[in-house]
Amino acid sequence: MARDRSIFVCQQCGYRTIKWLGKCPDCGTWNSFAEERVKGRGVGDEVATTATSPVRLPEIKVEAGFRVSTNISELDRVLGGGVVPGGLILIGGDPGIGKSTLLLQALAGIVESSGSSGLYVSAEESLSQVKLRAERLGIDSSHILLLSETTIEDILRVIEDTKPGMVVIDSIQTIYCRELSSAPGTVGQVRECSARLMECAKGRNIPVFIIGHVTKEGSLAGPRVLEHIVDTVLYFEGDRSMAFRILRAVKNRFGSTNEIGIFEMTDRGLREVRNPSEIFLRQRQVSVPGTVTASTIEGTRPFLVEIQALVTPTTFGVPRRTSIGVDPQRVNLLIAVLEKIGGIQFGIADVYINVVGGLRLVETAVDLPVVVALVSSFREMAVDYSTLFFGEIGLSGEVRTVAQPEIRLKEAEKTGMKRVVLPEGNRERVEGRTGMEVIGVKSLTELLEVVFNG
Ligand SMILES: Nc1ncnc2c1ncn2[C@@H]1O[C@H](COP(=O)(O)OP(=O)(O)OP(=O)(O)O)[C@@H](O)[C@H]1O
Ligand SMILES: [Mg+2]
Repeated sequence: MARDRSIFVCQQCGYRTIKWLGKCPDCGTWNSFAEERVKGRGVGDEVATTATSPVRLPEIKVEAGFRVSTNISELDRVLGGGVVPGGLILIGGDPGIGKSTLLLQALAGIVESSGSSGLYVSAEESLSQVKLRAERLGIDSSHILLLSETTIEDILRVIEDTKPGMVVIDSIQTIYCRELSSAPGTVGQVRECSARLMECAKGRNIPVFIIGHVTKEGSLAGPRVLEHIVDTVLYFEGDRSMAFRILRAVKNRFGSTNEIGIFEMTDRGLREVRNPSEIFLRQRQVSVPGTVTASTIEGTRPFLVEIQALVTPTTFGVPRRTSIGVDPQRVNLLIAVLEKIGGIQFGIADVYINVVGGLRLVETAVDLPVVVALVSSFREMAVDYSTLFFGEIGLSGEVRTVAQPEIRLKEAEKTGMKRVVLPEGNRERVEGRTGMEVIGVKSLTELLEVVFNG
């Protein structure tokens, strides 16, 4: 006979035990165990088994890489070229960043491109709230079904009945399974509900999007195991005070995780930004000290960004070094190289670095523009805004080549750049193939000479 029993689950890492513990032996968190009721299996209960046998690899037939477009090319790109039927996709992001907006727009896109119906399950908002949003976004398709429901059993029943072509669950932390006695959002609930949604997605071969909340630290709330279960994990990020939103894949079983999608939040919903360089350079029309145009590549896309540096005398105590958008350790390293090789002493100066538009740059190709911005602010000498900079700088002050200079220059030409300062090693590859003036530099000393004394 089946009997319910209690187990204790660490809310941090999902570790399970049959008795309460003060400290999790797995992740070391204190006071993180919560009680959960689970259905026990009694003697004589049937044990579910799957009677499958192994198949030889060449004998497995796969359907040709079939993907459904969401009609939002930025989202399609991040997903690896569209939605894969049967895929379970988790999307996380700060409150109010636009997760519901993005998925409602994606649902409308899929409905339009595939001709099937789409189900939007909202456990957070009422139907009228979702309808108001849809009206604002100009979505009014009779193929979109809305459901305000919180139990996974009922949600799965509706999916069974309506057979939609795509499902959106908003959000995983607010739905629950009746069989478990713990509250919605706890590790057990999140794991159980996602496992059932996974089963449904794979079984019915429909894509299921799950919205997940993020914690204060910025990681997805709930167990880490959630990220393992799903096929794709997307993060929707950006500064809420600014209109730009960046969609990034951190895990993707069907595509690269290097691609990003850029959106702008407007009163009519999220608008795709097809040409990011234009946006990130939009306010740039004059040359001012400390501001430099740089080139970066995210995935397969090059774009231009503005890097700003501010060097001011320290008024009190230890000099401050603050960097937003570029790794602070990298900036410290570049300052050290500038001091030792360039002979510029930042010792008694506060240094601030910022990337305009709230972008995070991880490429070492931004070393060169960061250095130029620092010296430009230090010496109060403006750098021409129509000059583009990229290149890596080594510890001995050498300027190292970077990947894909051609596509960087192509993008720069499109945005009206006139000159480029790049590593000497990259110069030959691009010279004569661009209308821009190309200046190659071998070392930091040569760079400073060309930019500030040339
Ligand atoms: N009338 C409007 N005009 C412009 N922007 C709006 C308008 N209404 C909402 N927004 C934008 O939409 C955002 C909310 O979007 P949405 O509800 O999709 O976010 P969410 O990530 O789902 O939030 P939550 O975590 O609360 O579910 C707001 O923060 C705001 O930026
Ligand atoms: Mg929402």
